[in-house]
Amino acid sequence: MMSTFKQDFPSLRDNKIAYLDSAASAQKPDCVIEHMNDFMRNGYANIHRGLYGWSQDITQAYEDVRAQVADFLGVSSQNEVIFTRNATEGINLVAQSWGRTFLRTGDEIIISEMEHHANIVPWQILRDQIGIVLKIIPVLEDGSLDIDTYKKLISKRTKFVSIVHISNALGVVNDVALIASIAKSYDDDIKVLVDGSQSIVHRSVNIPALKCDFFVFTGHKLYGPTGVGVLWGKEEILNAMPPYQGGGDMIETVSFEKTTYQDAPARFEVGTPAILEVLGLGRAIKYITDAGFDQIALKEAEMAQYAHKKLKDVPHLTFYGDTADKIGIFSFTMEGAHTSDVAMILDQMGVYVRTGHHCCMPLMKRFKVEGTMRASLGIYTDYEDIDRLVGALHKAQEMLG
Ligand code: ALA
Repeated sequence: MMSTFKQDFPSLRDNKIAYLDSAASAQKPDCVIEHMNDFMRNGYANIHRGLYGWSQDITQAYEDVRAQVADFLGVSSQNEVIFTRNATEGINLVAQSWGRTFLRTGDEIIISEMEHHANIVPWQILRDQIGIVLKIIPVLEDGSLDIDTYKKLISKRTKFVSIVHISNALGVVNDVALIASIAKSYDDDIKVLVDGSQSIVHRSVNIPALKCDFFVFTGHKLYGPTGVGVLWGKEEILNAMPPYQGGGDMIETVSFEKTTYQDAPARFEVGTPAILEVLGLGRAIKYITDAGFDQIALKEAEMAQYAHKKLKDVPHLTFYGDTADKIGIFSFTMEGAHTSDVAMILDQMGVYVRTGHHCCMPLMKRFKVEGTMRASLGIYTDYEDIDRLVGALHKAQEMLG
């Protein structure tokens, strides 16, 4: 009997809403909500500062989450785990700290046509600041990356490759280990960043197997709170990077003449961090690991297969992203109907999907659409949610057709 994770999520238990927008942000289980509340009710304080009980306890709990994240990612050093605000901040941190320090005018960065704006705009800002060149891996008709063209884009000026693991707009899974290996076999000094915002939710991520130098993800898609994310980086690379921002908690000594900085991770965690959110993230990771990725993958694959079959039977839909390795994200348009009109009808029927460009305007342009409707599945998605989506799409066709 397959586990019904939905019972763990108070916002979904009454089945009023078919929530199919987990790629944008996931619902939160009781255990995460209660864990954060418990800290607020029973001994909250700032971390790394107080010599009294509450501060010491919460500091320990915060640092325990760092160790837990390292374990979750399959890396041995917790010093390599930096808490950020979200994945976007992690990429901006790398672009501004590593990029401005180690790149020179004319150096090249490779990204892809399917990147989220969070993995495009920080590099464009850097391009405007120091004159680097951005090269783009094209997306093929099925939504996969054009690896042959990628190989040709690499040159002796290539210094960095920044690539999404699983596309938020299409659900296609990129072979990031292959992409990293291709870069590194050309020149071992090329650094690789993987945007794991979607993959961390659906796959067991083992960083050494990905062969990357940086990995980012966000907490709120992983059934944790907003306001917390993770940047993982190799320790020797992080300690060679200057701070991204300056302030409290990241310094060794401060005088008006000279300030010295702590090593990673403290160097990059400036000011009071998102303490409660880090604790909530830790609880969400425990929830996921207790459930087990084997069990989660089994359930998600079954739901994705069901959704795929049912959605293909709905007439007049065009789908985007149809690779063999794909997660439960379905992006489609409806012939003769505007996506926002369809979404409004779906909303009235309690079916929540995202519409628009999904923060991937270049990808939409590649497929010659303004936007798509996107149904994205989570750990709690069940047959009823899919049936309601399909029923609502038929209804929308009747009303708009
Ligand atoms: N990146 C989020 C999405 O895909 C917000 O919807």
